[in-house]
Order: sequence, then structure tokens, then C-alpha cells
Amino acid sequence: MAYRHFEFVEKHAWALGILTAVMVSLGGLAEVLPLFVEARSVRPPPSVRPYDPLRLAGRDVYVREGCYLCHSQMIRALRFETQRYGRYSTAEESVYDRPFQWGSKRTGPDLARVGGKYSDDWQRLHLVDPRAVVPESNMPGYPWLATAAVDGVEIASRMRGLRRLGDPYTDADIGGAAAAVDGRTELDALVAYLQGLGSSEGPEAARTGAASAVPVARISP
Ligand code: HEC
Repeated sequence: MAYRHFEFVEKHAWALGILTAVMVSLGGLAEVLPLFVEARSVRPPPSVRPYDPLRLAGRDVYVREGCYLCHSQMIRALRFETQRYGRYSTAEESVYDRPFQWGSKRTGPDLARVGGKYSDDWQRLHLVDPRAVVPESNMPGYPWLATAAVDGVEIASRMRGLRRLGDPYTDADIGGAAAAVDGRTELDALVAYLQGLGSSEGPEAARTGAASAVPVARISP
């Protein structure tokens, strides 16, 4: 009986096609459905906060300028990665990143924990003219950021949009956004964003982080 069924399927390509599609779909659902539930169960630890207005503006500049084309923000759970960059990245750290900036292209180093590695002045100088501080660098300069003002009204509406998506901004946060970025340039914003990267890590990062692993032979002010 069962053999006759097999024979039928083997002799009729359309039946084989349909049954194959059914089986592949079931397999696919079994793989995909748990991930939906898992995505909803990712809750940020208290140390991960939504971006303040200036950093949010900086993040937008980062995305607009395409920094992700050369820099990843995801430290893999491999020894040589954690020794160089610090503790490996976790999903919780990116809950307020829309879209996330993980990436895999590393023309330059990973930036997931670059916050605090250099001074604000170093970051400014480096962004305006990378070769002023790292002579062998092939990173492009972004001098126009130093004179472009951050638009406070736009940042406030951005925060309103993010709140609709679930980010816990209060009315006071949004109301104060324009004042928080008043008079600040896109360079200020980008530096604030960079200096905040990996800062949710807390003291543990300092113990196990990149700082202790590889001495940085770089000119810093
Ligand atoms: C064409 C590729 C490229 C692009 C685009 C690029 N970078 Fe870089 N970046 C590099 C390279 C290469 C280095 C390493 C040499 C150096 O420090 O300049 C680097 C280094 C850095 C560093 C220092 C990292 C460390 O740990 O020493 C920071 C911070 C940085 N880039 C930020 C940015 C930002 C922000 C942008 C976008 C505005 C950007 N980069 C765009 C290639 C790039």
C-alpha cells in the first residue's frame, strides 16, 4: 500500500514538487517561528538606555555618511576578537538601534566598544582629517560635519517616531530635545555617539575589555 504511494509520487513530478514544497515550508517554519518569539523576549538590561538627543543625531550622521561601509559594530565571540575589541556583542545592546549597525565589512576596526578609547579631541581631529593623527589611515575625512548644525525639531520628531515603535522616551525627553542639541554641530553629535558606543558595558568591560589586551600604538592628545 505505502509502496504504491511512493511509486505514484516518484512517477509524477508535480506531486513530488508539491510534497517537497510542503516539507521545506514546514522545516522553514520550524526554524523561523521560534525566532519571532525570541526577538520579543530580548529585553534590554537597565544599563542600555535609548539614545539621548545628541547621540541620536550622531547616529543619524553615522548612517548617512555610510560609516558602516568600513566599520562593523559587532564583536564576535572569538578569542582574538574579544582580546582586541572587548567583550563580545549581545542582542540586548542593540535593541534601540534601528536599523542595527552590526555589519561585517571591516576596512577599519570594529567600533562596538570604541567609546572612551580616545578623547573627544582625538575623535574630532580624526573625523575631520584622519591622517592628522593616524598617518597611514585610508579613512576619508568628514570636515563638513564641523559646520553643519543639528536640527533640533527633526530630532524631536525622530524621537516621537521611535517612541511609537516602543522606545521609552518620555514627553519631557522629547520636549527637551531641541534645547539639548541647540547650537551643536553634526561633529559634536557624531563624537557623542561614538563615545557612547559600548558604554552600556559598565565596569565589567573595563576589567575584561580591549584596553588591557593590545597596547595601542597611536598618537593621542
Ligand atoms: C573607507 C573606509 C572608511 C570609512 C568610510 C570610515 N572609516 Fe573609520 N576607519 C577606517 C580605517 C582604515 C581606520 C583605521 C585607521 C585610522 O584610525 O584612521 C578607521 C578608524 C576609525 C576610528 C578609530 C577606531 C579605533 O579603534 O582606533 C573611528 C572612531 C572611526 N574610524 C570612525 C569612523 C566614522 C564615524 C566614520 C563615518 C563618518 C568612518 N570611520 C568612516 C576606515 C573607514
